[in-house]
Amino acid sequence: MTQDELKKAVAQAAVEYILPLLEEDTIVGIGTGSTANLFIDELAQHKHLFDGTVASSDASAERLKGHGIPVYDLNSVAGMRVYIDGADESNHYLHLIKGGGAALTREKIVAACAEEFVCIADESKLVNVLGDFPLPVEVIPMARSYVARELVKLGGDPVYREGVVTDNGNHILDVYNLEIVDPIKLENQINSIVGVVTNGLFASRPADVLLLGTQEGVKTLK
Ligand code: 5RP
Repeated sequence: MTQDELKKAVAQAAVEYILPLLEEDTIVGIGTGSTANLFIDELAQHKHLFDGTVASSDASAERLKGHGIPVYDLNSVAGMRVYIDGADESNHYLHLIKGGGAALTREKIVAACAEEFVCIADESKLVNVLGDFPLPVEVIPMARSYVARELVKLGGDPVYREGVVTDNGNHILDVYNLEIVDPIKLENQINSIVGVVTNGLFASRPADVLLLGTQEGVKTLK
């Protein structure tokens, strides 16, 4: 199977996974990216089974609305039964790197509100040590150079993602050459730099379940 076929298989598996959770008042959190897009397309067939969604990006919100699926402001819902999203990397503890699509801050907020975070990814995303994928850091624009200097002190090589403005109006630094042996510590260290909005490490709040598309079928890691 190609990578796209593996992504489609996990998207279908994610719908099967959440079907028993759906009730008429259920709110589903929706992530961002190509795997999340495939999930949205599959979920659309079951839109009559639940109340609506909260989206982690404007792009996902538009796709959901295109399918006629209600999208709520996070402030207008009490919480979420489940959040489904992709990842750029996952280790075996389900600590993630996210933010390849620049939606990391809203993704982290929606994940924080969800009872259960189900990550969906193809097998290329599973690694022993996080950090081959450059770690995205969302920064307040005026702090970009200062934050970059602080990231160098932590051993990384930050690169400004030129031309990208997040849904929150901020900039992204992609940090190369980090070997992330303690993801929770590094997540907290980077988040304590003034001017950082958040970084793409999802370790303090990892995924609860990883549905991994492999050549042998979809595997469930917990
Ligand atoms: C967006 C993300 C995505 O979940 C991540 O980049 C994976 O994307 P894809 O499903 O396209 O491989 O974090 O900010």
